[in-house]
Amino acid sequence: MTSMATITVQGDRPYDVVVGHGAAQRISTVIDERAEKVAVLHAPGIDGIVEPVLRALRSRGLTTVQIELPDAEQAKTAAVLESCWRVLGDERFTRTDAIVSVGGGATTDAAGFVAASWLRGIDVVHIPTTTLAMVDAAIGGKTGINTDAGKNLVGAFHTPRAVLVDPGYAASLPSTDHVAGLAEVVKAGLIADTTILDILEADTADVLRPGSAALRDVVVRAIRVKAAVVSADLREVATSGPQREILNYGHTLGHAIERQQNYTWRHGDAVSVGMVFAAEVANAVDLLTGDEVGRHREILGSLGLPISYAGSDWPHLLDTMRIDKKARGSVVRLVLLDGIGNPVVQPAPAEPVLTAAFERLVP
Ligand SMILES: NC(=O)c1ccc[n+]([C@@H]2O[C@H](COP(=O)([O-])OP(=O)(O)OC[C@H]3O[C@@H](n4cnc5c(N)ncnc54)[C@H](O)[C@@H]3O)[C@@H](O)[C@H]2O)c1
Ligand SMILES: [Zn+2]
Repeated sequence: MTSMATITVQGDRPYDVVVGHGAAQRISTVIDERAEKVAVLHAPGIDGIVEPVLRALRSRGLTTVQIELPDAEQAKTAAVLESCWRVLGDERFTRTDAIVSVGGGATTDAAGFVAASWLRGIDVVHIPTTTLAMVDAAIGGKTGINTDAGKNLVGAFHTPRAVLVDPGYAASLPSTDHVAGLAEVVKAGLIADTTILDILEADTADVLRPGSAALRDVVVRAIRVKAAVVSADLREVATSGPQREILNYGHTLGHAIERQQNYTWRHGDAVSVGMVFAAEVANAVDLLTGDEVGRHREILGSLGLPISYAGSDWPHLLDTMRIDKKARGSVVRLVLLDGIGNPVVQPAPAEPVLTAAFERLVP
């Protein structure tokens, strides 16, 4: 077994993120000693990952209740929450019992919200199984579901008791999903830990390989970046320190693309295009050099992430970004880089600057 890395997320209730091959076996030691029952809420089709988790819990004498959630976004509905609450009620789950989530970001979001809402909050341990969930969704305590009003509008902050990350789980993911998750890893490199970029440039193929030490290394580093930001800004209210906003690098245009494409694009793919856009904007206002913009394109492109976008969509994208900003009741702010590794949050420059930056993305 290779060594484990432990990253502590600070806050009211500090917790550890344990990363390494076999990390999920720690499940038997991280559950509260007063717990008698554990509900394992998991994504479908990953029995090979779920079974050892159930065995480890049972070997500690815990009673396990297995709940298979619907796949992907279908897990994030009020109806699914209700069905989970019914099971927890039937099984008489108390405040000291716990929930374990095993799956991608949709699973950790839904299961986290079940844990946040049952008896006003019981323990949850996340075992993320997609690259995106490992470096992003499972870290930081945001949980939620989708409703007719929109995506992720209903939810709660609920700090997990622990997060157990085995980067090897990416082996069974379609490579397009693995690569899309790596967009958030590149983001962490661009906004904070530039060593991530060096590792990617040294051997892209190695990072793409699920069992590799290089992948584990960049996953640990990306988690450290997110952990540092959320440790400083637990509920997204910080007025100083590393604002959680910097995690939205590439996301302003990225979110607009996701909506424009009716959520048929992977989040990471949209964010990849969004980061190239942000780099072009930064170049236009003299924050990044042309070479630094080129570095964005080379790293993202070498992973197989999209770095261009059809030009005909621009008027709609601009509208969508404006609507998004209006909904938040503030001016459009963009996360830009003032040199790679140094994010600044600024009001967006005038429309012609944005349009010119976008035109440089048109294939
Ligand atoms: N809470 C947060 O801070 C936060 C941050 C980012 C994203 N999110 C949320 O995360 C979700 C996206 O997460 P995602 O990209 O992990 O998608 P996902 O959870 O929908 O998983 C993608 C697909 O991969 C399957 N899968 C999961 N693990 C697998 C494995 N090891 N092998 C094979 N298949 C596997 C899933 O069943 C699903 O079909 C969105 O709902 C998004 O809103 C939340
Ligand atoms: Zn994201």
